[in-house]
Amino acid sequence: MTDAASRPFTAGAVAVPLVLPVLGYLSNDVRIMFTVHLFLGAFWFGTAVLGAVVLGPVMGSLSEEANVEFAEGFVPKMNLLMEPVSVGAIGSGIGLASMLGLWASPTPSLWAALAIAIALLVLGFGPLHKFTAGMFDEIAADETDHERLATLNKKYGMLSLVELVLMIAIVATMSGLRWGF
Ligand code: HEM
Repeated sequence: MTDAASRPFTAGAVAVPLVLPVLGYLSNDVRIMFTVHLFLGAFWFGTAVLGAVVLGPVMGSLSEEANVEFAEGFVPKMNLLMEPVSVGAIGSGIGLASMLGLWASPTPSLWAALAIAIALLVLGFGPLHKFTAGMFDEIAADETDHERLATLNKKYGMLSLVELVLMIAIVATMSGLRWGF
């Protein structure tokens, strides 16, 4: 999969989201950590919305050949990028909360953010990973099983809507954190 996405892409997709929160934390400057968290959080949220409501349905509506061609470029890159971004967004959030001293007496919003974050990670590294890996196998196969590809695409689409609901909920908890709830 790293070859399909290209090695430089893979290196950047894994390194940038994981290194930024570490640098933010080591900077000891809460403003830098806040910016890193916003960048990764906004990136993740935006990509999740785009994927769930635009790209997924478009992919599902293409002809079989066009679907494979689109997925060849799209699936490996998304698969490699989104998992590190999710870890980076959540890691930077946990680090930011610690720099702000919020873990000393966590508010309900902070607990809710943590719980939703765990659910998002389970979803992302569990079934969503399994479906995209399966899609990649089908695309890379000599004889693509279009039926299996379409089924995986459909399952992925439905679960990404669940992900979207959780993402909206976690952003609501961010607002709660801001106002001290
Ligand atoms: C999908 C994941 C996430 C997204 C999209 C996201 C987004 C945001 C946004 C837009 C803000 C700025 C609004 C504000 O000032 O509150 C923010 C702030 C913050 N986030 Fe997140 N966040 C995510 C996950 C997390 C997680 C898992 C934690 C910790 C458990 C966390 C902790 C914080 C903290 C402590 C702040 C600063 C709150 C303050 O201003 O006092 N975030 N986040």
